[in-house]
Amino acid sequence: MSPRLLWAANRFRMETENRKSRRYGGRGRHHWYVLLFLMRTLDVLLKLTRNYERGVRNAWDIAVREIDVALPRLPAAFDGFTVLHLSDLHLDGMPGLEEAILERVGAREFDLCVLTGDYRTELHGPIRPTMDRLQPLVSRVRSRHGVLGVLGNHDDCHMVGPMEAMGIRMLVNESVRLTRGRDVLQVVGTDDVHYYFTDQAVHALEAARDAFTIALVHSPEAFDVAAELGVDLYLCGHTHAGQVCLPGGRPVITHLSRGRRFYRGTWEHRGMAGITNAGAGTSGVPVRFHTRGEVLALTLRCGKGEHPQPGPPR
Ligand SMILES: [Fe+2]
Repeated sequence: MSPRLLWAANRFRMETENRKSRRYGGRGRHHWYVLLFLMRTLDVLLKLTRNYERGVRNAWDIAVREIDVALPRLPAAFDGFTVLHLSDLHLDGMPGLEEAILERVGAREFDLCVLTGDYRTELHGPIRPTMDRLQPLVSRVRSRHGVLGVLGNHDDCHMVGPMEAMGIRMLVNESVRLTRGRDVLQVVGTDDVHYYFTDQAVHALEAARDAFTIALVHSPEAFDVAAELGVDLYLCGHTHAGQVCLPGGRPVITHLSRGRRFYRGTWEHRGMAGITNAGAGTSGVPVRFHTRGEVLALTLRCGKGEHPQPGPPR
């Protein structure tokens, strides 16, 4: 049986049995239903206190954030390489989000577009409504080397086929190499490590030993193994930067079992640069407070730079 089929069979079983798997234990049933209850409570509270509409307006105030990423081992031929990083679209939660993203990105052309998971909010049910909203976004994004994607914890293993049919190169514990002359830029993508961690994700990251590597992982929770294996740049999302935060951006919930200090922004761990995308969409309640949705326009640069820590674990 091919690695893809083995993966699909395993993930399908985990999805249908409602069973999650994390690298350092934590196997068990999804806590999603508890979160759903909390989010419905939040929804009622916001409406009662007349803050709901303000939260919705905040959620649609999506920023395009430009980041120059200094990378000591970046091959010279890739200096100036541009990446459009989209994450946590949750397209069923904010109908029309795909158009809002396209309005912000405009006709700008990137060298590469990467998607780091959570295309929908619902954990179960039909995938077609989400796929139908993703299609126009993917077809209109301008990227010289196409679009690469990985799955998040809200996604369904059956999304891989339709997403590939719309032209996305899905990386399911797999890698792809881009070349410029003799220089190589490798992108490794893993299956989600928040709910669906398997050793196959670690094996995929082992490819980082051979070339300059960007890892696409839905959540920051594999930061340590990625750094250990030589990943140069770790791109992720999942946290929504807290989505509903206290004043100052302090999150109430990060949805991380580890690496909570990497819940947003640019960071560094043992020589590996990391970026946790705040996501363009929302989960649960379509609101944001004291944090902003974003799409990231990255420019890779050769050399050393500052990748400030995003702050203490919260
Ligand atoms: Fe997620």
